[in-house]
This record gives sequence, structure tokens and C-alpha cells, in this order.
Amino acid sequence: MKIAPSLLSADFANLGASARVVTQAGADWLHWDVMDGHFVPNLTIGADVMAAVRPYSDLPFDVHLMISPVDAFIPLFAKAGADRLTIHPEAGPHLHRSLQLIRAVGCKVGVALNPATPLEVLQPVLGDIDQVLMMTVNPGFGGQQFIPQGLARVAAVKAMIIQAGRQVGGDEGQIELVVDGGVNPVTAGQLWAAGASVLVAGTAVFGGTDGDYAAKIQRLKQAPPHTQD
Ligand code: DX5
Ligand code: ZN
Repeated sequence: MKIAPSLLSADFANLGASARVVTQAGADWLHWDVMDGHFVPNLTIGADVMAAVRPYSDLPFDVHLMISPVDAFIPLFAKAGADRLTIHPEAGPHLHRSLQLIRAVGCKVGVALNPATPLEVLQPVLGDIDQVLMMTVNPGFGGQQFIPQGLARVAAVKAMIIQAGRQVGGDEGQIELVVDGGVNPVTAGQLWAAGASVLVAGTAVFGGTDGDYAAKIQRLKQAPPHTQD
């Protein structure tokens, strides 16, 4: 079980320090939310900013591209230090081609599904990907409320992965089942139970005045798996 703090909720005036502090606090990946003001109604971080932070952490950079068209940016983010690149199927006309491009630039390959994206879009590409990013909020902003229908969708994607002869996890050949949006110590337990292997957390790590990042990350990681009451 891994936690990927989302730097979207970090102090943008001190991104390097924020990356370093959560790295030292036991984060597993760093999650970057790249938004273009077009595919989603917000504008965030470009490749140059991410490249500037690369020296501050040796964790995998997990880059969530919410940009359309996306293809031209794939090599740029790879060069800027991305380890994992995730795209939305709605962000370009040829999902499979974009996924091949991510593979060609040497990154792990991810597909992100919005709360209303049909799961079937995964079926033809399950053999070509290293992670699925299940959105449990609509992409664009941190601090939104968890959409509970996401729990059943996570479980259904886990079943699809197994049906396709793959397994959920981070070992070679496995698929990471990542969940993004509204993660907190309560929803984390529900998501572990549903089959998630990685949780992205912005507000739950960087929010509030409590700077004990190690405790907040551990609380999410060790949230006891439980089903919705
Ligand atoms: C939303 C982003 C998320 C966001 C999550 O578009 O994809 O990664 O940072 O923020 P929280 O954890 O606050 O819901
Ligand atoms: Zn994200």
C-alpha cells in the first residue's frame, strides 16, 4: 500500500521544500497534477517547474496529465523527470497511440478514468498499461468531496484486471490501482478494502496546520480496510 502526496495542495512558493519534506516523511511517490485550463477548469504546473523540483526528491514522479491535446507534452514531461505518466482517454483522439508514446519515452504507462468515464475504455488497453488512476472527484481541484460511487468502480476495475490475467500491485507485470480525490483516513480504509494499491492525497497530507507529515501519511497507509456503513 502506497501513498502519493499531491503537490497540488503543497505550498507553491516552496515546492522543492514540500517535495523534500514528504519524501523524508515516508511518501512512496510524488503526484503532480498538470492542468491546462482547457481539459479541466484550472491551470497549474508545467514541465519546467517540475524539472526544477526533481533534485529535491528521489521518489518516483507520478504525473497526472489533465491536458488536451496531450501527445506533444509526453516527451517534455519525460525529459523533466517523470517516472509515471497518466493520461485521460478523453484527452486525445487515439488513446492507444498516446500510451505507446509514453512507453517509447521510457515512462510507466497510466490511464485515468473520470467519475463518469465508462470502465469499458480500459478493456482494449489492459495489456499495455502499468497503472489505472481512478478519479473519485471530478478533476481540476484539490479539496473536493469524495464521490462514493467510486468504491464500486475501483472494485470493478480490480476484477477487470484479474479477468485480463494481470494482478493489482507494483511488481513487474502488475497494474497499480491508484485512486485520486477526496482521500482521507476514512475513505482510505474503504479504498484499501475495494482493492486500491496506491492512494493519492493532497488535502489529507498538506492541508491544515498540522505539519506532522509522517503521521498523516502513516494514518492513511494504515487505515483499517472497511466497507461503507
Ligand atoms: C484533482 C487532482 C488530485 C487532487 C486531489 O484534479 O487529480 O490529485 O490533488 O486532492 P485531494 O486529495 O485534496 O482531493
Ligand atoms: Zn491527480
